[in-house]
Amino acid sequence: MNLIMGEGELVSCRELVEAQELIYNCSLSHIKPMSLKCAIELGIPDIIHNHGQPITLSKLISSLPIHPSKAHCIHRLMRILVHFGFFTTQLLLPQQQEETYSLTLASKLFLKDCPIKATPFFLVQLNPLLLKPWHFLSTWLQKGEDDDDHPSTPFEMANGINFWDGVGNDPMVKYMFTEAMATDSYLMSKVIVEEGKEVFEGLSSLVDVGGGTGIMANAIVEAFTNIKCTVLDLPYIVADLKGTHNLNFVEGDMFKKIPSANAVLLKWTLHDWNDEEVVVILKKCREAIWSKDKGGKVIVIDMVIDDDEEPKSSVETQLCFDMLMMVNLTGKERNEKEWENLFLAAGFSHYKINPIVGFRSLIEVFP
Ligand SMILES: C[S@@+](CC[C@H](N)C(=O)[O-])C[C@H]1O[C@@H](n2cnc3c(N)ncnc32)[C@H](O)[C@@H]1O
Repeated sequence: MNLIMGEGELVSCRELVEAQELIYNCSLSHIKPMSLKCAIELGIPDIIHNHGQPITLSKLISSLPIHPSKAHCIHRLMRILVHFGFFTTQLLLPQQQEETYSLTLASKLFLKDCPIKATPFFLVQLNPLLLKPWHFLSTWLQKGEDDDDHPSTPFEMANGINFWDGVGNDPMVKYMFTEAMATDSYLMSKVIVEEGKEVFEGLSSLVDVGGGTGIMANAIVEAFTNIKCTVLDLPYIVADLKGTHNLNFVEGDMFKKIPSANAVLLKWTLHDWNDEEVVVILKKCREAIWSKDKGGKVIVIDMVIDDDEEPKSSVETQLCFDMLMMVNLTGKERNEKEWENLFLAAGFSHYKINPIVGFRSLIEVFP
């Protein structure tokens, strides 16, 4: 059966139902993170882990801090989280009817003693400070940059403060954001030390610009013992951090001055800024690094978007991060051509993209 649409277009009911389902699915997509948030708050990953073997539904229910009248809801919560890939389910014995649940690698990252902690990044995205700006995106898009009091981001329009000050002013958000970055750097440092050896070998000094709490810098000085590393970041990030004989922390502003070194590292920092700002930062990096003949270079760890890339889930992650940058910051995720334009505009002569595992790349930029 066909239906007539507004402009006389004839569409089959089957196609309409498919379109409607796409919309329903999209409208309900917040249910995925909110269900997972509930499981984390109830401590489900740790309860399953501490049980030491697949846990039955009844054992799980009896271990949860829930009201007995809500016990029947847990099967439904677990069913959708199994569907999303956060838990697996199986029958303990073929003759038994009761299901048991186990962790997947993704839910293991939510365990309290896991060195790779997914909870801070996950929960900070759901914090009202970061959720509210999404309600301002269309209003923000309708304002011109030359309008009076034009906030530079939806984040600023929603919260009346820029992202970095907003994070710094809220102790819980600051804690989660710093932990999220530290966790990302911990995992990435393992990848870099293994897959990016030749990029760091031979360097004697390195400044990690926007280096956060120094997790990446620490891994680099441990793996490459000839490198002395400086972490440059905002005062509220590095003020209380203590260095070692080959790692020191400097409070500062990368738009003003970057300490001199053989090379500069920018991990997941340039995507926070717009093109004009990135060129300013890169020019400061160029002033800071040694000359071409002495082996000076800038090392960028960031995404290089390629719509044709496989797997498609990585492209989706990159596109989501791009929107995140638009809403919270002035930044963006870039394709190779966009990166090249920025490197050349900042006075660099050439670059090399080193593919590494995951959705980010390791880019060497040469003077
Ligand atoms: C997205 S985080 C990345 C942190 C770290 N590189 C990592 O990947 O874990 C960006 C970092 O830039 C720092 N930052 C922001 N503005 C800065 C500025 N003007 N000068 C120096 N660092 C800055 C932030 O405090 C934050 O630590």
